[in-house]
Amino acid sequence: MSIDWYPGHMAVARKKAAQTMAQIDVVVEVLDARLPGASGNPMITEMRVHRQRPCLKILNKADAADPVETALWIKAIEAEHAALRGHLGTVRAVALSCKKPSDVTRALRQAAELVPHRDSLLKPVRILVMGIPNVGKSTLINALLKRRVAPVGDEPAVTKQLHRYDLDERTVLFDTPGLMWPAITHPSDGLMLAASHAIGVNAYIDEEVASFLGELLIARYPALVTQRYGCAVAGMDGPALLEAVASGQGLRSRGGHLDIEKAAHRLLTDYRQGRLGRITLETPRSRAEMLAAARAAEATAAAAAEAAEAARLSEAAEQPEPLP
Ligand code: G4P
Repeated sequence: MSIDWYPGHMAVARKKAAQTMAQIDVVVEVLDARLPGASGNPMITEMRVHRQRPCLKILNKADAADPVETALWIKAIEAEHAALRGHLGTVRAVALSCKKPSDVTRALRQAAELVPHRDSLLKPVRILVMGIPNVGKSTLINALLKRRVAPVGDEPAVTKQLHRYDLDERTVLFDTPGLMWPAITHPSDGLMLAASHAIGVNAYIDEEVASFLGELLIARYPALVTQRYGCAVAGMDGPALLEAVASGQGLRSRGGHLDIEKAAHRLLTDYRQGRLGRITLETPRSRAEMLAAARAAEATAAAAAEAAEAARLSEAAEQPEPLP
C-alpha cells in the first residue's frame, strides 16, 4: 500500500522543532499506548539524541489500550534504554490518559525529575511536547494549563504552529505540531497508524486498513469481535470479517449488495472510539518479531544484490578481449 503522508508543512515543522530542541531541557514524547512502537517517530529520537535531551515517553490513551500489554510496553521501553546505558539519553516511560487530570499532573512531575538541575524559580524546567498527530498532545497541554489553548481534534495535524506556555514560575511548556517522518519503513506501521487515525483519511483506503485491522483483531481479540458483531471469527480473514460486519449490521448498497466500504468505515470507527473494548495493536513481542523479520529480509536482499553484482563482474571478466 502506498500512503502519501508527508505534507509540506511537516518539513517546516521539523526544522522548527529541531531549533527549539536546542533551547529546552526535557522532551515529553506522546505515544499512542495502543501502538507504542509504530507511533514513535524516529526523527524525534534523532533530534533528541543529537541534543542529548532526556525524555519522558507518555503512552497516552492507556484507557483504550489492553492494560496487560501496556505494562509490558513500559517494562520493555525502560529495559531497552537501560541496556543502551544512556546511549540514547535518559528515557522513562509512563502510561496514562491525558483525559485524567491527576495522571497529567503526575507526568509533569516525572518529566521535571529528569532534570533536577532545573526546576527552580531561577531555572524553570523547559519542556518540549512532541509526538505524531492525534496522539493527544493538545489534550495533554490543555489539561496541564487547565484551559483549552490547543485545538483538540480527531483530524490529524490540527496543531500547526509551535507555541510557548508559561505553566507556572518553574515550568515552561512548548508544544509542536504533530510530526510525521517522510518514509514509514514498515508497511504494518503505516497500517496501524492509519487505523488509529494518525494519518489523514485522504492518504489511505479504508477497506485496506480495515481489513488489516480486522485480521489483527481476529488473531488477538476474537472474543471482543464476537461480542461486538455477534459473529464467530474462527477461520476468518480480514475481508471475511468485513463481509460479516456488513451482513450483521445490515450495511447494503442500493442494489442490495453487501456494502464493504461502509463495513470498513464502521469497523475503523468502532475501534477508534473504543467501542470494541481495550485493544493494543502491537505488543513488545510482535514488534520485536516484525523488526527481526525486516532485518532478515534486508540482509537477504543485500546478499542477493551482492551475488548478482559478483556474477556480473565474473561474467564480464570471462568475456574474450576484443581484437585490436
Ligand atoms: P494531537 O494534539 O496529538 O493531534 O491530539 P489531540 O489532543 O487533538 O487528540 C486527538 C484525539 O485523541 C481527540 O479525540 C482526543 O480527545 C483523543 N484523546 C486524547 N487523549 C486521550 C486519552 O487519554 N484517551 C482517549 N481515549 N482519547 C484521548 P476526538 O475524538 O477528536 O475528540 P474528543 O471528541 O474526544 O474531544
